[in-house]
Amino acid sequence: MASVTSLSDSVQQHLASALSATRPEAAGADPLLRRSDRADYQANGILALAKKAKANPRELAAEVVSHVVTGDELIKDVEVSGPGFLNITIADRAITANLAARYADTERLGVPVTAHPGTTVIDYAQPNVAKEMHVGHLRSAVIGDSVVQLLEFTGENVVRRHHIGDWGTQFGMLIQYLDEHPHELDHKEGEVSGEEAMSNLDRLYKTARKLFDSDEEFKTRSRRRVVDLQAGDPRTLSIWQKFVDESKIYFFSVFEKLDMEIQDADIVGESGYNDMLAETCRLLEESGVAVRSEGALCVFFEDVLGPDGKQVPLIVQKSDGGYGYAATDLSAIRDRVFRLKADTLLYVVDARQALHFKMVFETARRAGWLGDDVKAIQLAFGTVLGKDGKPFKTREGETVKLVDLLDEAIDRASAVVREKAQDLSEEEIAERGTQVGVGAVKYADLSTSANRDYKFDLDQMVSLNGDTSVYLQYAYARIQSILRKAPEGVRPSAHPELALHEAERALGLHVDAFAETVADAAREYAPHKLAAYLYQLASLYTSFYDKCPVLKAESPDQVANRLFLCDVTARTLHRGMALLGIRTPERL
Ligand code: ARG
Repeated sequence: MASVTSLSDSVQQHLASALSATRPEAAGADPLLRRSDRADYQANGILALAKKAKANPRELAAEVVSHVVTGDELIKDVEVSGPGFLNITIADRAITANLAARYADTERLGVPVTAHPGTTVIDYAQPNVAKEMHVGHLRSAVIGDSVVQLLEFTGENVVRRHHIGDWGTQFGMLIQYLDEHPHELDHKEGEVSGEEAMSNLDRLYKTARKLFDSDEEFKTRSRRRVVDLQAGDPRTLSIWQKFVDESKIYFFSVFEKLDMEIQDADIVGESGYNDMLAETCRLLEESGVAVRSEGALCVFFEDVLGPDGKQVPLIVQKSDGGYGYAATDLSAIRDRVFRLKADTLLYVVDARQALHFKMVFETARRAGWLGDDVKAIQLAFGTVLGKDGKPFKTREGETVKLVDLLDEAIDRASAVVREKAQDLSEEEIAERGTQVGVGAVKYADLSTSANRDYKFDLDQMVSLNGDTSVYLQYAYARIQSILRKAPEGVRPSAHPELALHEAERALGLHVDAFAETVADAAREYAPHKLAAYLYQLASLYTSFYDKCPVLKAESPDQVANRLFLCDVTARTLHRGMALLGIRTPERL
């Protein structure tokens, strides 16, 4: 489907040519078009131009106006305002016609695909093997998934990487324990559920830990196991694999609950770079980027200092020969740049790891693995806080399990759905409750800018009023119900010849801005911009619906045109919510 030029782009182009028709030196000047309360758009670019040309801005503006073509094709009216701004009103016909072109492209609503896509490797949804997923892992998964959707929608080549923690020192202890108690992870008949898998791992971890802390000999055997693991001892590896497999059962069950598609092939954890670690270290040492210090292989930075004023290095290899988090991340960069041919590396990781990534990126730059043509960005997210404004904990002070949290959100949402439900069966209530509950959690996470902390407040999240996904989902369902109520033979269809009500214009102009919003949100990795857009879309729809009767509009054409406005709004809501990873049930 052909992409549709937004009204704002058309106006921008038109003004740019009016500018160059006015003064040759104005060719290429930016009219600086903005949405405005005064008119549909306001152009502020004439001020700078007047300054440069030493002209009176209001006079220059008047000259530009004389070159603007007005009519019902695009610009209905343009006038000079203030010190030399242009206020622009779009013709009703242009609004309806542009929306009709978008409507014809059911899937993409006329949103263009980039002509020169790059390759982005995005590192997100990276829980740790044999550990429970907590609320911090929620953010990486939810934000990462939305950024993936946004980038793919704009045409970018996206490679997903789930850099799971599967290579840490605790595995020595776990493997040793399982080797000595071989039947602990054996499964009875049939498949294990995610919950069982986690409780198996949890139990095993706790008993192994107890032994590790109380039995010196077991401790020694465990330490030796880590070395065996990293050296690739087959027996050790096969036991380790059991942990990974068991953990994956659990991860997949959580991702499924999150209504998120994760492919096994994209799970390339820390262990996936094991074969590269020694070479990474050798290259760093040979090039002098890293130096030996007290036996460890270190990279120093002038501006990374400890409390004593001494430089705190990035440790690539410990003095005992073990490789840590930095070595795997540096190897992953080599893999992603040289083999996967990434030109953007994106890491959706907690802001508290910012120093780690700063040092890792800088090291990779010094080593020549990250050139000027490759961007490396940590999309750092803030902490999830409780209602009290402190990091979110259970009443007992423990970290909150992601699954418990989702279950509670689903319970609350189901209660809301049940209360409002008119013609829903129990089964439907359960299904909608899940979609609403999970949507509420995702939306709360996505609607504030990622780098900010946010309060996890379920009451607010499932509220029907305010900036919540439930509000958006209800707006969508309400539109569907209107569309269903349309009499036989009355279909949504655009009538550009009809004059529009103010509320229709406001809604229409906003729908048309979907493409720009998606482009901005994708370019800035900022799903919250899309969330804000959708919230405003639902609000504008609500005021349209209050002011403009749809099924009881004055003429059959008016009914069809308003149904069309309803439907194009619904499709935009649906598409936009999908880019946030949130469902829009047809009935609520
Ligand atoms: N597994 C880590 C954690 O739970 C996050 C991994 C982030 N990605 C990376 N390439 N270091 O904190």
